[in-house]
Amino acid sequence: MATSGANDKKTALVVGAGSGIGRETAKVLAGKGLTTLVADINVAATRELAEEESGIVALGDRSWDATDQAACQELLDLAVAEVGRLDVVVSTVGWTAVSKFLDETPEYWRKIVDLNLMSAIYLCAAAGRVMREHGGSIVLTASEAGKVGTSGESVYSATKGGVIALAKSLAREFARYKIRVNVVAPGITATPLLESQGGAQMLDSIVKQVPLRRVGQPEDIAGAIAFLALDEADYITGQTLCVGGGLTMTS
Ligand SMILES: NC(=O)c1ccc[n+]([C@@H]2O[C@H](COP(=O)([O-])OP(=O)(O)OC[C@H]3O[C@@H](n4cnc5c(N)ncnc54)[C@H](O)[C@@H]3O)[C@@H](O)[C@H]2O)c1
Repeated sequence: MATSGANDKKTALVVGAGSGIGRETAKVLAGKGLTTLVADINVAATRELAEEESGIVALGDRSWDATDQAACQELLDLAVAEVGRLDVVVSTVGWTAVSKFLDETPEYWRKIVDLNLMSAIYLCAAAGRVMREHGGSIVLTASEAGKVGTSGESVYSATKGGVIALAKSLAREFARYKIRVNVVAPGITATPLLESQGGAQMLDSIVKQVPLRRVGQPEDIAGAIAFLALDEADYITGQTLCVGGGLTMTS
């Protein structure tokens, strides 16, 4: 249920909101009073989210593919047409699978790069074009893998490192437009993506390495994304906030 407050007239777009971290982020932003538009390749999921939660609108009531540059521009243009201006753009689009680098195919590498890095590039370009008149805030989703690397996720780690570098560079370039660009790097987080990667046994062994001794919940990550997205973080740009129970403690 949306509450009234300083964010009442602000608007947000969450891409990748059909599941996991993105879905929770949309709920948190709507709960803070933002009119929250959601998009995902899975239209059934965003439609269901919009039906369940007040303050959330499934933009265009259609499937949006963030690996398609033209679709990303169309998405941002439609968002502005619907709500007048966008204050916050969040992308949680991403996908991974664990496999051995030497067994992988070029097609697999291309898919990982498109989903995790090109989608962020396309969305930042489209967001920058619509936000440069009035400023705003962009939050991207990387991974702790992008800071320290993960065996079995080489190309995924490379793309997430790329997302971090993209945000740092755009934070410098977009500062003149008063657009902040930041990143949240989740650790191990209980979402459908994690469930698809392995069973409880895998989780048990990983949790032993987490200083806070638990797997993250989507709420943990969504809270960090909302913090960086909103005015509380008005003097923060180009930063990556790791939310992983202390699994990594890198600069
Ligand atoms: N869950 C974890 O442990 C974890 C850890 C580190 C980083 N991350 C990152 O967090 C982000 C969110 O992950 P999650 O765990 O919530 O995953 P998830 O699979 O639950 O959600 C990802 C969403 O992205 C959507 N999506 C996929 N391809 C798309 C496309 N081409 N266009 C538009 N939407 C698309 C999916 O439909 C889904 O709704 C990802 O970038 C992921 O790499 C997750």
